[in-house]
Amino acid sequence: MNMNLTLKVWRQKNAQTKGKMVDYKVTDISEHMSFLEMLDVLNEDLVKKGEEPVAFDHDCREGICGMCSLFINGEAHGPDRLITTCQLHMRKFKNGDTIYIEPFRAKAFPVIKDLIVDRMAFERIQQAGGFISVNTSGNTTDANSILIPKHNADLSMDAAACIGCGACVATCKNSSAMLFVSAKVSQFALLPQGRIEAKERVLNMVRQMDLEGFGNCTNTEACEVECPKGISLENIARMNREYLSASIF
Ligand code: SF4
Ligand code: FES
Repeated sequence: MNMNLTLKVWRQKNAQTKGKMVDYKVTDISEHMSFLEMLDVLNEDLVKKGEEPVAFDHDCREGICGMCSLFINGEAHGPDRLITTCQLHMRKFKNGDTIYIEPFRAKAFPVIKDLIVDRMAFERIQQAGGFISVNTSGNTTDANSILIPKHNADLSMDAAACIGCGACVATCKNSSAMLFVSAKVSQFALLPQGRIEAKERVLNMVRQMDLEGFGNCTNTEACEVECPKGISLENIARMNREYLSASIF
């Protein structure tokens, strides 16, 4: 059945001005539409009326890039589990529903316009250590020649599933980025290739995380619940161990 909905959408002209919730109606929304397609319908209506469309981030629309970033009815990426906003379908809502749509909120993620926030802080944390240095002079060893225990390879792949969306930060009452940073630290810490720069990596990434103004982790565990990629809290424990041993030795 098609739906008529009331949307309460955060509108903010730019980073300098104050924003507010604005009410919109959308009609004849198919339950098969994605949430972003429903917003496309709203924007087409607004353009037809000569009004400014709602700005929101998106790119791949298939759960890969981490660009989509909406807080829907008080939850990062909406009411479904283990999905991004672009993978959310309108069948999760009912005819006549009122839906609140806000940007991911955190001091380190300032609003640029409407529902778009600046997540460059994550890029700067990555630049501080989210890489390995490989000699590509021509005598590099084939990666498959280094044997890695299956368990470690699996855990590393699980950590590498983080798409850097920022839902963990938006969900955390402290705006902590620990789940994101710990995933990026863990994916390398679990592999021999990542051990060479492990000490500098964890120290530099945590230092940058603190510089960006993210809050502390107080183990409320909300980040793990809302993470679209199921990144485990075990990564935070691993990062804390890595950080402690890098600080001491
Ligand atoms: S840990 Fe999860 S919620 Fe946080 S940035 Fe990565 S994928 Fe997004
Ligand atoms: S638009 Fe790429 S993950 Fe949603």
